[in-house]
Amino acid sequence: MLSSIFLVALLAPSVLAQSTVVDAYVSTESPIAKASMLANIGSSGSKSSGALSGIVIASPSTVNPDYLYTWTRDSALTFQTIIEQFTLGIDTTLRGEIDNYVGAQAIVQRISNPSGDITTGGLGEPKFYVNETAFTGSWGRPQRDGPALRSTALITWANYLLSEGNMTYVTNTLWPIIETDLNYVASDWNQSTYDLWEEVYSSSFFTTAVQHRSLRQGTTLAQALGDISLASNYETQADHLLCFLQSYWNSAGYMTANTGGGRSGIDSNSVLASIHTFDLTAGCDAITFQPCSDIALLNLFTYVNAFRNIYEINSGIPANEAVLTGRYPEDVYMGGNPWYLTTLAVAEQLYDSLIVWNSQGSLDVTNISLPFFKLFESSIAVGTYSSSSNEFRTLTTAVKTFSDGFVALVAKYTPPSGGLAEQISKNNGAPVSAVDLTWSYASVLTAFDARGGVVPASWGAQGLSLTCAGSPASQTVSVTFNVDVTTTEGQNVYLTGSADALKDWSTDNAILLSSANYPTWSGKSEFTPKSVPLYSLFAFFLVLVTVTVPGSTDVQYKYIQKDGSGTVTWESDPNMEITTPADGTYATNDTWR
Ligand code: NOJ
Ligand code: NOJ
Repeated sequence: MLSSIFLVALLAPSVLAQSTVVDAYVSTESPIAKASMLANIGSSGSKSSGALSGIVIASPSTVNPDYLYTWTRDSALTFQTIIEQFTLGIDTTLRGEIDNYVGAQAIVQRISNPSGDITTGGLGEPKFYVNETAFTGSWGRPQRDGPALRSTALITWANYLLSEGNMTYVTNTLWPIIETDLNYVASDWNQSTYDLWEEVYSSSFFTTAVQHRSLRQGTTLAQALGDISLASNYETQADHLLCFLQSYWNSAGYMTANTGGGRSGIDSNSVLASIHTFDLTAGCDAITFQPCSDIALLNLFTYVNAFRNIYEINSGIPANEAVLTGRYPEDVYMGGNPWYLTTLAVAEQLYDSLIVWNSQGSLDVTNISLPFFKLFESSIAVGTYSSSSNEFRTLTTAVKTFSDGFVALVAKYTPPSGGLAEQISKNNGAPVSAVDLTWSYASVLTAFDARGGVVPASWGAQGLSLTCAGSPASQTVSVTFNVDVTTTEGQNVYLTGSADALKDWSTDNAILLSSANYPTWSGKSEFTPKSVPLYSLFAFFLVLVTVTVPGSTDVQYKYIQKDGSGTVTWESDPNMEITTPADGTYATNDTWR
C-alpha cells in the first residue's frame, strides 16, 4: 500500500499535466465538434453539400473516399448523440434538427432500393444519396444494424416526449417509423448481415447487440402505447437475441466480432457495442456486456493490446499506457490506420465504467478482469473493493488516467483547426481518409459527456436474465450439403460460402467435396464423407459432406468446380441459401446449376 501511494506521488506531475491537457482539449474541441457535426446535416449545414433537410452526410469528401452519402448507421449514431444532448438538457437548441431528422427518416424508409422496399428488406440498405434517392451500385448490403440504431434514437426521443405529455406526436409521427424498423429487426435479426465495416457477411456482434437493445426498448414503448401483442413479440425476439449475444464470446478473452470473416475477430465492433448499449441501471452486468463487466474489460484489454505493435506511431509506448487503436488489427482500408472514433470509444467505455463504479460505491475484480486491472496494480487480487478502500482509489485513479490517455492521443493528433478526419496515419499521425467525418465528431461528444459523468437514459438492461433452454444460438448443427454434379475427368467439386465453416467465399480454401466412388476424389478431415453413389458411377454421383455451421443463422453458399490447372467454374446465380435449424441435423439436396 505504501508503495502504491509512493508511486502515485511520483507519477503525479505527469498525470496532472495529462489531465490538464485533456481538460483543455475538451473545452476547445467540444464546440468545434458540435459545430462541425451540425455543418454536415442538411439542408442548412454549411458543409452538407446539397443534402436535404435532416439528412446527415458521412463526410463532405467526394473523392478517395467518396462519402457524400447518408448512411443509416452514421446518421442514427449522430442523432442518438443529438437527442441525448437535447433530452439531458446539455444543449436545448437542437430540437429543430431532431424534427428534421424524423421527417427525413420517414422518407428514407420508403425509398425502394437494391435491398428491397419498405416491406421486403429495403430497410437494411446501408446508404442513400443525400437527395433521398437510392444508391444502386454494388455495396455490402444489407446492413441490419441501421434500423436498430435508428429506432433506438427515435425511441429515446419518443420516451422524452411521452414524459413531457406529448402522446399525439409520438403516436402519429414517431411510432409508425419506429414500428417499421422494429418489425424488421424482430423478423430478420437472425438473417446474415454485412458488419458495420461493410465487409463481412455473417452475423455480427455489434449488430446483434444493438438489435437486442432496440427490441427491449421497443417492448416497453409498445406497452406504453397499448400494443400488448406486439410488445410480447418484441420481448420474445429480444430474449432470443440476448441468448445469441452470448455465443460470440471467445475464451481467448474477447468477443468475436463476426461469425464469418476469417480474421481474429478482435475488433472495435465490440467496444462500440458496449458503449452504445451502456445502461447505468444494469451495473457491471456481463450478459448485456456492460462497459464495466469483467468480460468487456478483458475484451478492451485484448483489443487495445492488438494495436501496440502494428502501428509505428504506437512504438515505445509502455504496456500500461494508451495507444491509438483502429477498427481491427487486420484492417487494410486506406492503408489500415488508427481511427479517431475507435480510440475515443475505448476512453468512453472506461469513463462509463468509472460512472458505474462511483455510483455503486464498489468495484469487482474477477478472475476474468484480473489481467486488465493488473495493468494498474500488479499485486491486485480478485475481490470486491468498496469505495473507501485504497485499492478502489488506486484502481479508479489509474483507470481515469489510462482513459484520459486515449483522449490525450486524439488531442495530440487533432490538427490546429480542430477538424477530425476518419483516420490517423499509423506512420506520422497526419489525418487520413475522409475529412470532417460526422461520426468522428459525434464520438468526441459522447466520449466527453461520459468523461463529465453524463448518464444516458436507461434502456431496460437492468435485471435481464437468460432464458436460453434449447436456444437456437448456442447450438451448433451439422449440415449435410448434397449436390448432384456431372463432371468430366479432372474436375473436382468444392463448396464455399458465407461462414467460416464454409471458408468465407474463398475459392482457394473451398471445401473439397468427396466422392468415394470416384477414385481420384478424397475427403478432407474437417468433415465426414459419406458418399452414396447415384445414377451412373461415372457421370453422376451424390456427394455427402458434414460441416459445422452456427445454428439458426442464414447461410449462403455455392458449389464450384476446379479443373486440374485450378481454373474455377462457379454455379450460376443466385447464391444458394439455407437457414440452419436450432438443433439437430439438416441436409440440402441440391443440383448443380
Ligand atoms: C468502403 C467501406 O465503407 C469500408 O468500411 C470498407 O473497409 C471498404 N469499402 C473496403 O471494403
Ligand atoms: C466506412 C465505415 O466502415 C462505415 O462504418 C461507415 O458507415 C462509412 N465509412 C461511412 O462513414
